[in-house]
Amino acid sequence: MDHRFTIVAVNGSPHAGIGNTALILDMLRPSLAEQGCGLEVVTLCEHEIEYCVGCALCMEKGRCWIPDDHHGIVERLLAADGVILSSPVYFLHVTAQMKTFLDRSLAWGHKPRPSWKPGLAVSVSAGMGETQTAEYLAGLLRVYGAFPVGRLTAMATSPGEFVGREAVEAHARNLARDLAQAIRDKRRYPASDADLRFYQFMGGLVHRHKDAIMNHDYAHWETHGLFNGFETYIQQRSEETAYDPEIRKAWVQEMIARHKAKRAGKKTEVRKTSSASAAGQASTCRELLEAMPLAFDRSAAGGLDAVYQFDVSGAEKFQAHLEISGGTCRYHQGPAVAPGVVIHTPGEVWLAIAKGELDGREAFMAGKYTVEGDLSLLLKLPSLFPGRASA
Ligand SMILES: Cc1cc2nc3c(=O)[nH]c(=O)nc-3n(C[C@H](O)[C@H](O)[C@H](O)COP(=O)(O)O)c2cc1C
Repeated sequence: MDHRFTIVAVNGSPHAGIGNTALILDMLRPSLAEQGCGLEVVTLCEHEIEYCVGCALCMEKGRCWIPDDHHGIVERLLAADGVILSSPVYFLHVTAQMKTFLDRSLAWGHKPRPSWKPGLAVSVSAGMGETQTAEYLAGLLRVYGAFPVGRLTAMATSPGEFVGREAVEAHARNLARDLAQAIRDKRRYPASDADLRFYQFMGGLVHRHKDAIMNHDYAHWETHGLFNGFETYIQQRSEETAYDPEIRKAWVQEMIARHKAKRAGKKTEVRKTSSASAAGQASTCRELLEAMPLAFDRSAAGGLDAVYQFDVSGAEKFQAHLEISGGTCRYHQGPAVAPGVVIHTPGEVWLAIAKGELDGREAFMAGKYTVEGDLSLLLKLPSLFPGRASA
């Protein structure tokens, strides 16, 4: 089948094609294919890859001199639209095959690629160490120009016997869809602390050793303007969040009122910003969703733990989610790992519903927006955000 996008996965298991890591990669395949992504798996044990000899000549010359299969595999990763690093857990870490593959990648290790792409980290254990191993692999995606949209982990006591198979499969489906969506959207997540630390540390190191051992790395940083600043390095600009002084004023007044009531020993009715007023002040769907936590009615939520994801299309194109847990509501950019409900809506439709210009139920029946997941969560929205900020 022809696919629009290619995802290359490296599998560090010696159980070529029949191991648990191969099986878990296969769980991703159907959902990726549905989304137009072909999955190519490179099983390291089927290739000739020598140990790194530690000469570090690659930092000077730009590539490793050992003539084996390693270079070709990295070239495939760099050319791919998405990258997956996967390994079973061997003594609480990746296998020797995977570690050797990573060690041999030093020529790329200090060179941020000219374009970042989404990736996944995958690890299977018999019961211990899969989370740390996946985290390690997630951090190393950067070597191949990728960043993690998620980690897929599982435990399997014997071949194919996954603990909680259904949950693993569901997680695999969700992550595959999210990976494909991230590729289509050319998504970048907000830079992490690890990105910043790497930039600061590596920028200094490469600069200090520019005339000797790291001169090839230095040329790469210079050519791509990476020394110009962190945002160039990470290839995204920090978005200015809309700042509404009225919302801030309302917050401050509420905090003062709460404080005074507490000192007076009184229980006061906490004044809430209604979602209608949040909606009224919002001129974009993003502003509206950002302001939703202010309109959240904690008492209506009870013990609800739920994640509402919004896939906004049209002139505004973004993903965000509202996380409701422990009586609070938080706004996050980007997709959720396991949303309870996903609302696919053009930005202007949701904004019009929130402002009362469009009836939410009628808009739903007319297919102006669609909903995936737990429909009952959609029905709860009006009580959680009283006013008119929801369907
Ligand atoms: C040498 C060796 C070391 C292992 N170390 C661990 C370990 O530290 N923790 C664990 O839970 N499983 C460990 N296992 C079990 C494998 O992680 C587990 O069987 C995994 O599902 C194998 O995946 P695969 O079939 O893709 O190779 C180890 C297996 C071997 C052969």
